[in-house]
Formats: sequence, structure tokens, C-alpha cells
Amino acid sequence: MTAKTRHEVAAIDPDDIGHNKSSNPSFNDLIASRLSRRHLFGLGVGTAGTALLQACGGGGSGGFPVLPAAPAPAPAPAPAPAPAPAPAAPKLGFTAVSKSLADVVAVPAGYTATVLYRLGDPIATGVPAYANDGTDAAATFDRRAGDHHDGMTFFGMDASNKWSASAAARGLLAMNHEAITPLFLHPAGQTTTGTGNAQVRTVTDEVLREFYLHGVSVIEVNKGTSGWSYKQDSSFNRRVHTLTEMSFSGPAAGTPYLVTKFSTDGSKTRGTLNNCANGSTPWGTYLTCEENWAGYFRRITATDNLNRSAKELASFSRYGVAGTGRELWATVTPDTADNIYGRWNTEVITGAANAAADYRNGANTYGWVVEIDPFTPGSMPKKRTALGRMGHEGACLGPVVAGKPLVWYMGDDSRNEYIYKFVSTKNWDAADVNGGLAAGDKYMDDGRLYVAKFNADGTGAWLELKHGVNGITASNAAYAFADAADVVVNARLAADAAGATKMDRPEWTAVNPKTGEVYVTLTNTNAASRPITATDAANPRYYNDPKGAAATAQTGNPNGHVVRFADDNGDPAALSFKWDVYLFGARAGASADINLSGLVADNDFSSPDGLWFSQATGGLLWLETDDGAYTDVTNCMLLAALPGKVGDGAAKTITNVDGATTRQQATFVGKAPGTDGLRRFLVGPKDCEITGIAESGDGRALFVNIQHPGETTPVANIGNPALFGSHWPDGGNARPRSATVVITKDDGGLVGL
Ligand code: FEO
Ligand code: CA
Ligand code: CA
Repeated sequence: MTAKTRHEVAAIDPDDIGHNKSSNPSFNDLIASRLSRRHLFGLGVGTAGTALLQACGGGGSGGFPVLPAAPAPAPAPAPAPAPAPAPAAPKLGFTAVSKSLADVVAVPAGYTATVLYRLGDPIATGVPAYANDGTDAAATFDRRAGDHHDGMTFFGMDASNKWSASAAARGLLAMNHEAITPLFLHPAGQTTTGTGNAQVRTVTDEVLREFYLHGVSVIEVNKGTSGWSYKQDSSFNRRVHTLTEMSFSGPAAGTPYLVTKFSTDGSKTRGTLNNCANGSTPWGTYLTCEENWAGYFRRITATDNLNRSAKELASFSRYGVAGTGRELWATVTPDTADNIYGRWNTEVITGAANAAADYRNGANTYGWVVEIDPFTPGSMPKKRTALGRMGHEGACLGPVVAGKPLVWYMGDDSRNEYIYKFVSTKNWDAADVNGGLAAGDKYMDDGRLYVAKFNADGTGAWLELKHGVNGITASNAAYAFADAADVVVNARLAADAAGATKMDRPEWTAVNPKTGEVYVTLTNTNAASRPITATDAANPRYYNDPKGAAATAQTGNPNGHVVRFADDNGDPAALSFKWDVYLFGARAGASADINLSGLVADNDFSSPDGLWFSQATGGLLWLETDDGAYTDVTNCMLLAALPGKVGDGAAKTITNVDGATTRQQATFVGKAPGTDGLRRFLVGPKDCEITGIAESGDGRALFVNIQHPGETTPVANIGNPALFGSHWPDGGNARPRSATVVITKDDGGLVGL
């Protein structure tokens, strides 16, 4: 048996791979831009008089205040008293943390970061402490912290074990475990034999560990006299993983698209996977979002394509379902009676009579937003198909107003993908607070799905993804849409048909509680995905950012940007919006056409990813990076920001350069933040990503996830701990571990102010 690995070239980032071959427009092909300051000054946010408060991904206080529309019917009672009023005009109140390549979590003077919850930590009585040497028993991993901590929400909990927005010392922390660093999970990485399509996994314990290490944790956390800790024996502790049974709801539930051998009526599936960013609901449940699930499925195209319809092939191509499977889970033999390995093979199996006899539709059962009720540990998670199937980054709840629809904003994280929103049909009724998954049935199964089109003049449109409109018809030449289920299962194809705008990899979405404006990180793109000829107003930059002493070229938009928009008339259900680019990532010192936001040493960054507005601070924006471009200078980081609003900057024409080619691109650039508006708060350990963020009900504890420290460690180094890429958080010669840290201010104050 030969020990090999699937991760020889670590830092596999499948979301770097674009699958959008549509001809949707670049706006340089459109009429000459009509950009003017007059236009920018004319941007109306229209939120005056409308109370707006929300919290999405990080959930913050879990605080989704239930606000009456004006004029209001008698408002239903809120679930708990609101937190103390936040400062009217918050100011950043810390000294910037320097860029760093050290193997530590660095926070400003006057703050303390404490490790709370690491890969492998036990969450049930009787489960031993994590040995962290590859020997921990596989069967215990359904009661241990997963790997690659990602998006998370803090749900404050009152004495009666109900959700309480203001709870500041006790709560449930729900968090994603996006993926794994296999090298450190087993004695010496993944064990396989064979090569190419014949490469197979041979150690079932290794695969079982991996099944359990993906998914979601729910843990009870408490603030005691010595700080925050999780409660190992809490009855609320729970792991949701790739073997957890889940039901479908919404337009695709119970349709032929979701029929598998496991669920011959298409009503259920097992597991959730590649859970990236997150979201929450105003009734107190957690949303986990399935991002780059496609690569986990085995589908050998040379043989399987012969058994597939033209529509199936178009769908597989658009979602990137092809290959041997990222972790080779489908290759374990013999399979179990319930196909825990074979279910990852999404081919038509020879001899299988129909879709109810194999897992040819297995890939259709992933790519959804999944609702989990953290307060009911035995409840079955639901995949909400009305929100569409894509590489879901997150689902950020918009402003919550009684008597109005609920809205979630969503990014599809792959190069050249789109930004979406879902608008509920039912209007919000505060009586549904603590309504659990039944409230989800009411608001998330019935609604309208839209995709964003960014116009060159600073306006935008929401295009509905509905059968029979916007080219989403049976006569569509690229893909003949059959019905409503077909539209949500193939939401990317529907968005192509509608004419959505390709973006530079949409990551997190965040909604400003003060204005209702929506911010979206566009983490980066490269020349192969988006050449200089394909810039447009909303994705306007193309340049080279040479890396390291060798000056290795990085061309395209390697440092990313943050776009923001205001739905017209302050109405999240509006069909049009105004936008600008809030912020451009760049090295301090880069030329003016690259460093368009005027970043300096205290706030320069690259590849924005996590993005979340704190509720308790009155609208502090936290921005996290997942970078590979500026990592010769600094590890990934967390920055605090105080953004203005759409239109606070100016129209600008950028000169893009690609070798000898120069090209002008008009856009709208937000007001430069300065160090009072954007400042580095934290730098993580080596080879990590900073992602996932939440706060206690009073804003005096900030939870932050450190993902995959040391993940690019070469496999050959596993026998020599001194050569691990990181030893964080345990230090010494320990294997590195993803972990949650909790950050508090030493004087007990609000974090960041
Ligand atoms: Fe999993 Fe889009 O970062
Ligand atoms: Ca992310
Ligand atoms: Ca990312």
C-alpha cells in the first residue's frame, strides 16, 4: 500500500474554477457610459423614516428586532428586550495591528484573544480530549468539533432555553465546517492506492472521520468568571455532517430531479457539505450554505456522458460536476448496504433501472441553503430549494419590518458568477419568533428568486428567475427549462438566460443596519477568467500585482473589491437599485489606478471574503480576508470599517494595463475610507483564512474563526513536525487546528470602539 495524497499541491481552492460559459454582457460593449457626479449625488437611499435593523451571517445579538412598518398595526412583542442603544456615531477605538507573517493571532493592545473551540474538541461526555496525532477514534468524530471552521451565528439563550437577542453571557454558537486539511487528520494524510481514475481510498476509518468533520456544529457557550468556554455536556450540542438525514422543501422537493436510491420520492437526502458562509432568520434558526459541493462527486465523463441527456450535460457543465471526486469518497469498497460511499458517485450505474436505483441525481441534492433549528437538537435540517442551487456563499437577511416581505441576499462563489436575492411571498409577522422550522416553511418555501444585473450608469436591476419569463422558457436554446423545479435546480442556467452580470467571485453579503444598503465581497479574479477586455463598471480593475522577490505575475483583479448597492426607495423587495464600489483591495503604495481606495500601511488588504455588520456597535463593519496574493507580506486578517453610503464618492475612469495594452474603464468609487474608516484589527497565524464572525448580545465578545492554519504543508513533511506550516493554536510541534477564538476588550467595552 502506498501512502499518497489528494492534496499534494495543497491550497486546492475549487471555487477558483469558473464554470460560466454564458455570453452575458461586459458593459464595455454597451453604449458609452454616462457617468457623472450629478448622477452620484442623485442616488437616493430612501430609508428615512423606515426603521432598519438586521443581522445576518454572524447573527450578532441574534438580534432581528421586530419592527413595525409605518403606519403600524399593534406590534407583536419582541422576543426579548433590545440591547442597550449603540453609540450614535461609532468611532474606531483601537491601534491598528501591523501586517505580520508570525504564527500567532495578533489583536490590538488592550484586547485579548482566547481559543474557544478547536478541531477535534469533544462536545459530549465520555469523548476523550483530542490527541491530534491522527489516532483519534473515527467513531467519536460525530461528537467532536469539525474542521475548517467558517461562517457562524451566536444565538443568545435565556433562562428558559429560548432564543433571546439580548443574551450576553449564554448562547448557542452555530458554525460551519467547510472542508478539511486531510494531512493532519490521519497518521500521514490520506491513504490510497492506484493513480488517475483508478486511485482509491483504502482506509474506511479515514473516510468516516472526513464524513463527520464536514458540516455544522451547534455548541452551548457561556461566559464565566474566567471568560468564555463551551459546555462539553450541554444537551444542545450537536453535529450535523455528511451523514445527517435532511428533508427538501420548496419547488424542487419531491420532484424527479432529487430522486435517489436513498429517497425514491425525492423528498430527502443525507448530509451537507462545503458549508461556507451562513445566515439566519428572524425567527431564530440558522442557515448554512453549500458552496463548492460539485467537486466532491465522482463522475467520469468519458463513460457517463454517453448515458446522459443534453440537458443533463448542460447542467453538469454549468456546475462543474466532473472528475474522480475531491476526497475520493466514492471509491471505497466494499460499499455499505446504504451506500455511504457509493452515494458520492453521481454516474448512471450500469444495470440500475432508473434514478431510484442509483445516485445519478446525487449532485442535485447539494448546492442549497439549509435551515437548522439550533434550539431543537433532534430536528431534521431542511434544504430550502426556493433559494436556488448554486455555490452558495451565504444568505444575509435584509431589514426586518413587520408587515413586509423578508429578503435574503446571496453570493454564488465562483469566478464570473452572480449575486442573488430571495423575497418571501408572506409578510413578516413577529408572532413567528421562535417558530422553528415551521416558520421557515412559511417564509422560505414560497417567494421570488432574483439575480442582479449591474448597469454601467450606476443603476441595477433584479431579474426574476421564474419559469416563463426572462428567457427562462422551454424554447431557450441553451437549456430548455421544463418547470419551476428545473429553474431552481439549475438557477445558474436560469440566471444566464436572464442576462445577469458576471462578477469577480461573489463571497459574503452584509446589510448595513443603519441604511439597509447591501455590501458584497468580490474576492478576486484572474486574467484567465476575466481578461482586460472583459472588465465592466462593477468589475472595473485589471492589473498586475507581482508577488514576492521573484515578482511572479498576478494579473486580473488579484486583490478583489467590495461592491455595494441600495435597493430603490429603501425597499429590499424593489426591482432596481443603485450601486458603487465601496472598497478596492490593494497593497499600500500601489499605483493610483490600482489602490483606488487610498489604502495605507494600517489598512491595506487583499481578497476580501467574510463581511458582517455588528449590531451592538451600531453598524461597525467587519471584513475578513482569504488571500493568496499578498501573503508574501502578511497573513490573512480582520479589519474594522465604518462605511458611508452608496454615492459618497465619485465617478472615476480607471486606466487598466496588461503588458503593452492599456484600456479605460469607467466606474463609481466610494469615498476613500482613511484610517478612521478602515483599520486592521487582527492578523491570523500562518497559512490561514480568517472567516466567520459573531458577537454576544452586548457586543462585548467577538467570536472569530481561524480556518486551516498551515494547510499548504507539503505531505512529505508530515513526519517532521518542525516543518509544519503552522503549529497554531497549540504551539510547540503540534499539528495545526482550525479554531474559534473569542476576543474581548480588557476594560470590558464594546469590541472595536
Ligand atoms: Fe468558502 Fe467562498 O469561501
Ligand atoms: Ca468564504
Ligand atoms: Ca473563500
